[in-house]
Amino acid sequence: MKVGIIGVGYVGASVAVSLLHGGVTRELLLHDRDAARAEGEAMDLAQGAPYYPRATVRAVDLDEVSRCDVVVFAAGRNGRPGESRLQLLADNFRVASEVGRVVGQHAGIIVAISNPVDVLTRVLQQSSGLPPERVFGTGTMLDTARLRQALAERLAVDSRSVHAQVLGEHGDSEIVQWSGAQVGGRPLRDWPGWTREDEQRLGHEVKRAAYEIIQRKGVTNHAIGLVTADLVRAIVRDEHRVLTVTRCHTGEGLDGVALSLPAIVGRNGATTVIPPSLDDDEAQALAHSAQVLRDAWSQLAP
Ligand code: LAC
Repeated sequence: MKVGIIGVGYVGASVAVSLLHGGVTRELLLHDRDAARAEGEAMDLAQGAPYYPRATVRAVDLDEVSRCDVVVFAAGRNGRPGESRLQLLADNFRVASEVGRVVGQHAGIIVAISNPVDVLTRVLQQSSGLPPERVFGTGTMLDTARLRQALAERLAVDSRSVHAQVLGEHGDSEIVQWSGAQVGGRPLRDWPGWTREDEQRLGHEVKRAAYEIIQRKGVTNHAIGLVTADLVRAIVRDEHRVLTVTRCHTGEGLDGVALSLPAIVGRNGATTVIPPSLDDDEAQALAHSAQVLRDAWSQLAP
């Protein structure tokens, strides 16, 4: 499968490095409205060829990148220190609409990572006209990774043995599904010494993670690059893994809203959504997250 990245700033470039190092694609196309930047990144990455599995990297125009099997949308501006992701909507939705219209003329899959990724996923889905399962975003995959890492440190186990997930908005209204968290097959809430204070503290730590990094280095790019490469790998290799991607939903009080729920991801996209078992607090928090995203969308409606 041919993979394209639209927007080759810090995040798009990190996605490119992660895709190449992971051997995810043999053909990587880069596009940026600053054509020289895309050319420079392609040249720079191509010169590392002896250090990653065989692949070609080229800078191309919007029409060519839009014909890729998987198009990663990484265009738009990044957040400034202290800025919420939803505050980027006014500046980023226009480019998402324009790109959606072009990519929608072809039968690919769009993977959104630009913020606010949930609302921009809905913008891309509507402007492209592609079915919801073929337009989805990294959503809370990165928050889920942060949660697993934080729990791994707290419990002194490897993060790969931590099964926990974040749902809803990739943002301030996100929900940690504590009731479903398991470590080594044992419910987290049964672990000796585990307290609700731990949940409060770690939940806050995960939610604030991006703010803390942006305050220090101005952007987050490495972890989101790795997360995006993992998501694209699940598509390209038709892995049918369950990932907390954001996509437009129907029913269950989520009509039209794009937010993160567990979904099976393979070469046909994020096809089957798996409704999570939530306790009352979590269900209420998810409903609130959906409303936050509905309100953000309503600011766009003409
Ligand atoms: C973050 C950005 C990708 O959470 O939203 O780091």
